[in-house]
Amino acid sequence: MPKKKIEIKDLELIFGKGEDRKRAIKMLHDGKSNDYIREHTSSAVGVRKVDIDIYEGEMFVIVGLSGSGKSSLIRCLNRINTPTNGEVLIDGENILDYSREELRDMRRHKVSMVFQHFGLFDHRNVISNVAYGLEVQGVDKEEREKLAMESVKAVGLEGWEHHKIEQLSGGMKQRVGLARALTNEPEIMLMDEPYSALDPLIRRDMQKELLGLEDYIDKTIVFITHDMNEAFKLGDRIALMKDGVIVQIGEPSDYFENPANDYVEEFIADVDKGQVLKAKQLMREPAYVAKENDRRTTTRDALEKHEKSFCYVIDDNDVLLGYVTLDDLNESRKQTIESLVKEEPKALYRQLFLKEIYPLMEKGTTDVAIVDSKNRLHGVISYDDVIQALSI
Ligand SMILES: Nc1ncnc2c1ncn2[C@@H]1O[C@H](COP(=O)(O)OP(=O)(O)OP(=O)(O)O)[C@@H](O)[C@H]1O
Ligand SMILES: [Mg+2]
Repeated sequence: MPKKKIEIKDLELIFGKGEDRKRAIKMLHDGKSNDYIREHTSSAVGVRKVDIDIYEGEMFVIVGLSGSGKSSLIRCLNRINTPTNGEVLIDGENILDYSREELRDMRRHKVSMVFQHFGLFDHRNVISNVAYGLEVQGVDKEEREKLAMESVKAVGLEGWEHHKIEQLSGGMKQRVGLARALTNEPEIMLMDEPYSALDPLIRRDMQKELLGLEDYIDKTIVFITHDMNEAFKLGDRIALMKDGVIVQIGEPSDYFENPANDYVEEFIADVDKGQVLKAKQLMREPAYVAKENDRRTTTRDALEKHEKSFCYVIDDNDVLLGYVTLDDLNESRKQTIESLVKEEPKALYRQLFLKEIYPLMEKGTTDVAIVDSKNRLHGVISYDDVIQALSI
């Protein structure tokens, strides 16, 4: 089980002051609706009783209509918003107990945020915006610009580093925001509707890039959107919010297989599964995987036991080396399987969408390897799995 990186427990957030806020809290606990509370007080409910565990390395998406409480919630995770009740644990520490200094440290080193409306300094140039976090940390100019330049390159803005923000398009501004968030090498990235203001084509490019980025930076990302297609495309797991509560939480396939209620069903009605479900969401654990130095007879016995005609072979770092067949294992007299490994040309990248993978597969139940960008084996998928997922 991966480690819990962020734990949100019984979280409530009410915007308001003094006695009025206290009355609002009481109404909330009495089960009154957000509308009722807004009508009877001058306070507003942002979040009502949310519980979520987010795992290390996960891309966790929060989706919901405008006003459902997404920004209110994500802003509790770096304490831009101070919750009314509940806990937020990061690496097991309750950040609501943090001193001002501890908070500042956390925001500088551990958790960074890409804001809904960019949040850039228009009068500054690209590199100085990207280096801003390091500047406030007191890193000297040469060093911070060197580090900032690496992020500028990572988001594809090389050559633009000396341009003013106001000279950039919306898509480029968004890249600057992302580069800035990457520069202090955070463990957690909070992204509040980073792509909402972008044209569909640029948006698609940015989504692809983010998915690719996830493969080599092992960060925990909390991503907010109001677009279910985007949520499913990006998320390992997704929480659907409505009126400050989580209506459903799960993997994309959970939403299709077991929608929690009519609201969820309606929300996902227009989603094209082939374009949003990815290999990594559908893949299974292989029945058996061998290591290159395994004994031939052990591997043969395992395949016979699992009734498989072949299995994949990996090295000590999980990198896929190829496969061995039961026929070859039976015919050979070798001690180990090493020399029997055949190259696997058909392995599929785990970020591919089902629409992209199924033309590449042969009909039937044969398992095809699913790998990451470093060719590490993550699971297997068959043509029949894909067809079944698309037809539910
Ligand atoms: N600073 C604030 N003061 C008072 N009420 C607020 C404040 N921020 C948000 N709210 C209220 O809290 C509720 C949730 O708003 P929030 O901004 O979290 O929604 P959202 O899901 O992020 O919406 P959007 O998609 O439009 O960004 C709304 O009713 C909103 O009016
Ligand atoms: Mg918002």
